[in-house]
Amino acid sequence: MIKKNLFLFILVTVLIACSQQKDPIEKKIDDLLAKMTLQEKIGQMNQLTGTGLSDDMKSQIKAGRVGSVLNEIDVKTVNELQRIAIENSRLGIPLIFGRDVIHGFKTIFPIPLGQAATWNTQIIEDCARISAIEATATGIRWNFGPMIDVSRDPRWGRIAESCGEDPYLTSVMGAAMIKGFQGEKLSDPTSMAACAKHFAGYSATEAGKDYNTTYIPELQLRDVYLPSFKAAVDAGAASFMCSFNDINGVPSSGNEYLNRQILRKEWKFDGVLVSDWGSIEQMINHGVCLDLKDAGKKAITAGVDMDMMGFAYIGHLEELVKSGAVTEKLINEAVRNVLRMKFRLDLFENPYTKVTFAMPFYTDEALQKAKQAAVESAILLKNGNSTLPLTDKIKSVAVIGPLSDAPADQLGTWSFDAEPQHSVTPLAAIRNYYGKQVKVIAEKGLAYSRDTNPLGIARAIAAARKADVILYFAGEEAILSGEAHCRADISLPGVQSELLSALKKTGKRVVLIVMAGRPLTIGKELTEADAVLYAFQGGTMAGPALADLIFGKAVPSGKLPVTFPRMVGQVPVYYAHKMTGRPAKNIVMIDDIPVGAQQTSLGNSSYHLDAGDSPLFPFGFGLSYTTFSYSDVKVSKNELSEGDSLNVECTIKNTGKFDGSEVAQLYIRDLVASLARPVRELKGFQKINLQVGETKTVTFTLKSNQLAFWNADMVKRAEPGEFQVWISTDSQSGKPVSFKYK
Ligand code: BGC
Repeated sequence: MIKKNLFLFILVTVLIACSQQKDPIEKKIDDLLAKMTLQEKIGQMNQLTGTGLSDDMKSQIKAGRVGSVLNEIDVKTVNELQRIAIENSRLGIPLIFGRDVIHGFKTIFPIPLGQAATWNTQIIEDCARISAIEATATGIRWNFGPMIDVSRDPRWGRIAESCGEDPYLTSVMGAAMIKGFQGEKLSDPTSMAACAKHFAGYSATEAGKDYNTTYIPELQLRDVYLPSFKAAVDAGAASFMCSFNDINGVPSSGNEYLNRQILRKEWKFDGVLVSDWGSIEQMINHGVCLDLKDAGKKAITAGVDMDMMGFAYIGHLEELVKSGAVTEKLINEAVRNVLRMKFRLDLFENPYTKVTFAMPFYTDEALQKAKQAAVESAILLKNGNSTLPLTDKIKSVAVIGPLSDAPADQLGTWSFDAEPQHSVTPLAAIRNYYGKQVKVIAEKGLAYSRDTNPLGIARAIAAARKADVILYFAGEEAILSGEAHCRADISLPGVQSELLSALKKTGKRVVLIVMAGRPLTIGKELTEADAVLYAFQGGTMAGPALADLIFGKAVPSGKLPVTFPRMVGQVPVYYAHKMTGRPAKNIVMIDDIPVGAQQTSLGNSSYHLDAGDSPLFPFGFGLSYTTFSYSDVKVSKNELSEGDSLNVECTIKNTGKFDGSEVAQLYIRDLVASLARPVRELKGFQKINLQVGETKTVTFTLKSNQLAFWNADMVKRAEPGEFQVWISTDSQSGKPVSFKYK
């Protein structure tokens, strides 16, 4: 007995001693902090954009006034700047070089919205890994991505950079990107620190106009906009970035509640929180700070560790500390976060980037992955008379449209480092890979998406007349989406729609392929085209991917990561809406209202007179060349209690004529709760391959905590009552089964 007690005593003492022992990195930070002057600490909190080997940059680094440099991508310059930091600054603290590697560095993958349309976490992780291998070869160890702002407004140009409208889909896609960027361990030279951005609520911008005000009730913030960021913390994201917007009047860079209470206290995040470009300074424009000094004080108080190009910290923190307005403790905490990330990246031991003659760019593996990702990101929206894939009866195709041969535009937004000469366009791919099978008649018609030149149209029609089938590549130039590139009208730009009508009038079958940075309102085009493939902007290998899909070497499997509106006035339109007290029914469209009809409120319900109540396409939608049947959806038990889980399964059969992949989607609905709940919420998905005639059973495990939501007391809890659950091919179809939560 005594022996046993003694053993327990020793064990407890050892455990306590171990728990008190500092992480070696924290110990190193303590030592370094003890040696740093206030100015050197503030220097670590300063991020400047690259100016090459300018004298100013060199002298600032030497003086310890820079912690990080962004947008410097020449490896020799990076190494030389690093050498100055290591050898010529007093403490030799390494710099960290950052860049936006949003969907590829040299090899460009589909825009993130397109990547999300793959519903394939593995391919997304693989694309991010390749991006990291390419970018780190030039010394970039900090990537300002992924952007995980849940985006429900296609007018907003940055929807292109997002994973769409759903908190769950965005969470898992964001986590996959983080995994890929950061690799197995951050210390690996091919790993880059990920940066979950923009924290938070940026995408809820009013009228879809960039940088605009947002009003987000806390419940919605917690339920919709924050889950992807919490998932990013759980996935080990090394850093976060503030957003530009104000939420309910408080700009994110000065938002103590978001940055300290939620991010640090609730989520225990110990990485770096960097401002967005100038966002600290811009608090003056927001009208919440008097001047740059005031802005610096607000930002550090709110927990922003690093000032990206705002000059508030480097210009004013010293004086703020000296006057007692800011404590040095706050500075130490911020610097600790910055140094921790640098230690985790092993920059102190391995600050330099190996310069190799052959850079790992555009490798076969990278191009193959880029092609696969582009294949899986394309969504088949319509396939009248099985127009696609083209059979060998088709002897000639007319390749028309401004996106048919636009190497830069197919790369989409945020592709600064790519060289368009590496892009393989649809026209090039069709000629190269299918040119023996069919005669290719090429005539762009319009030189770019906004072109209105009538001569081009005439030439395109003449070309189309000579072909069996018209392949019309329409869409948006890359510059029409992305940061600050928002549109109030989200139809096809220019006269592309008119060109489609003219092509249709030739009597030939028309396949419309849309390459755009956002959902476009293509209701009219949908009725005119025989088949529609929505490809977003597919990157370097968009051409070969689309060619394979058109000619049947690949089968479409993409699903919409965002609802497509019929018209822009429906926005915001998303599948997980609430029911309302008067759900849409008895829809009478505008032209069916009798002239002089009396107003009545009887039987009225929630819809638009000119758009009805349905979107053009729901979230999760996407056709294939084959068909799938869903049957036998069942739950493993009828009751679920706290801490427990149940299985939901169903049988899916490939009932068509092609082997293909299907994304089975798991949705739930809480029928009666203390607060109105969405009509459906995505809780899981699985992408499966099925050969012709093959049947598979898919099983999801639904845990009780997946039923939880934030209630009026700001507690996240599942409430007892009846739930419905679906496994379906999109967010609107399928038959639910029920279970009870006790
Ligand atoms: C964007 C960020 C980006 C930063 C650095 C800003 O304008 O909002 O997303 O990471 O610039 O390029």
